[in-house]
Amino acid sequence: AFPKQVRLVEVGPRDGLQNEPEPISTATKLELIDRLGAAGLSYIEAASFVSPKWVPQMADHREVMQNLARLDGVTYAALTPNLKGLEAALECGVEEVAVFGAASEAFSQKNINCSVAESLARFEPVLERAQAAGVRVRGYVSTVLGCPYEGEIAPAKVAEVSKALYEMGCYEISLGDTIGVGTPLKAKRMLEAVSREVPMAQLAAHFHDTYGQALANLYVVLEEGIAVVDSSVAGLGGCPYAKGASGNVASEDVVYLLNGLGIETGIDLDKLADTGTWITQAIGRPNRSKVGVALAAR
Ligand code: HMG
Ligand code: MG
Repeated sequence: AFPKQVRLVEVGPRDGLQNEPEPISTATKLELIDRLGAAGLSYIEAASFVSPKWVPQMADHREVMQNLARLDGVTYAALTPNLKGLEAALECGVEEVAVFGAASEAFSQKNINCSVAESLARFEPVLERAQAAGVRVRGYVSTVLGCPYEGEIAPAKVAEVSKALYEMGCYEISLGDTIGVGTPLKAKRMLEAVSREVPMAQLAAHFHDTYGQALANLYVVLEEGIAVVDSSVAGLGGCPYAKGASGNVASEDVVYLLNGLGIETGIDLDKLADTGTWITQAIGRPNRSKVGVALAAR
């Protein structure tokens, strides 16, 4: 059965912008976060405390985190792959962080420069330190429906890594179709395997839309009981160096789908669509939300 309410995790300021090759000003990022909060998003992934050599676009993580205009009832989170990142994030007053692992060995090596087992060992002290500071930790698993280097990924492997993160203390596990290759039946089977190890209420769907399947995949996992969806305003994201790669499923499209299903989100779709129009103009990117484009043309 479908959930009555769904919480959107807005990852546009992080996942959406992290691959942009041209520097985006801190002021633009702050205004984006501001506008998303004003549109009713209650959870915004605002920054990423990773190496600036690896991800130059997120190098201003401290400035972003410290200068947010915090709204009541909105959680502003950041990625922290290791203790160094976590300590910096804590200094900036972060209230929630996320660690990110993968179901694929090859992807883990390329993304965070270590094996899956090594990554889990690295996350353990991050969890301990965060918990001591009263900061909640979300856990990502990437490549849950396919890997750019390994191809097919076994649902059992996704379940294994998800379970490890959950048992370590991550309060929620976000299942990432990193390269957007999944299809609905695959998504359902993967979720069946994972939900045998981690309760459905502690799982989130993080789907990219490279092959145009994200909404279809979401429909299926919502029906299975997923009630947390990661998305990016205007469908921002994707690697400009990888032909055809695209961003997260667009937040506007997810809200439109949920509205049609009678599922509450607390989000003002018009304000969200205006935000998508504004940010895509500000950074010179096409608006990849069909709903956003349609609403802007009215
Ligand atoms: P490493 O090189 O193995 O780490 O990187 P290291 O500990 O050997 O450190 C090397 C250098 O990085 C040192 O600097 C460190 O100080 C620095 P140097 O001495 O050479 O000048 N360093 C850091 N600087 C700032 N913040 C830090 C930090 N840690 C080390 N936290 C590391 C390991 C994980 C840091 C690196 O591989 C990295 O930053 N990777 C970035 C990965 C990334 O951000 N990927 C994108 C996000 S994940 C994603 O998009 C998927 C997701 O959306 C879900 C999905 O779609 O599937 C979440
Ligand atoms: Mg992602």
